[in-house]
Amino acid sequence: MKIVYYSLTGNVRRFLKRTELTDIYEITEANASETMTEPFILVTGTIGFGEVPAPVEHFLAVNHANLKGVAASGNRNWGNNFAKAGVTISQTYDVPLLMKFELHGTLKDTLEFKEKVVNFDESYGREALQSY
Ligand SMILES: Cc1cc2nc3c(=O)[nH]c(=O)nc-3n(C[C@H](O)[C@H](O)[C@H](O)COP(=O)(O)O)c2cc1C
Repeated sequence: MKIVYYSLTGNVRRFLKRTELTDIYEITEANASETMTEPFILVTGTIGFGEVPAPVEHFLAVNHANLKGVAASGNRNWGNNFAKAGVTISQTYDVPLLMKFELHGTLKDTLEFKEKVVNFDESYGREALQSY
């Protein structure tokens, strides 16, 4: 499964680098309106007061049909708004929130994410087959 991410200050980028996953696409302000033609899992930070970063909102407005799941980074100092971008995206587009993690995540977070992506690929593959 492709991983699509947005990283304002580098935390999500650093997190994903540690996963060693290779099929990764970065949303930037410049490419936020481009079309993604394959299914993807989104990873994003949270900004404002629990907001989804604007480039991510733009990207999803165009590409939400291929969104299969979301994971979000945040900072626990933000209390109830911790990693809230993930909750908002999950609810708006009715996709699973795979996990929330803090800043660039721990090694445990990295392993958990990787495992979830692999499991997701397996169950998604089965679903795709069953629909034939
Ligand atoms: C201006 C600003 C607002 C933020 N607001 C929130 C917030 O509401 N909730 C939260 O959990 N984290 C918040 N954060 C923390 C970031 O989501 C966190 O540092 C995240 O790891 C950033 O990921 P990135 O560097 O990959 O974009 C905020 C950070 C900044 C700079």
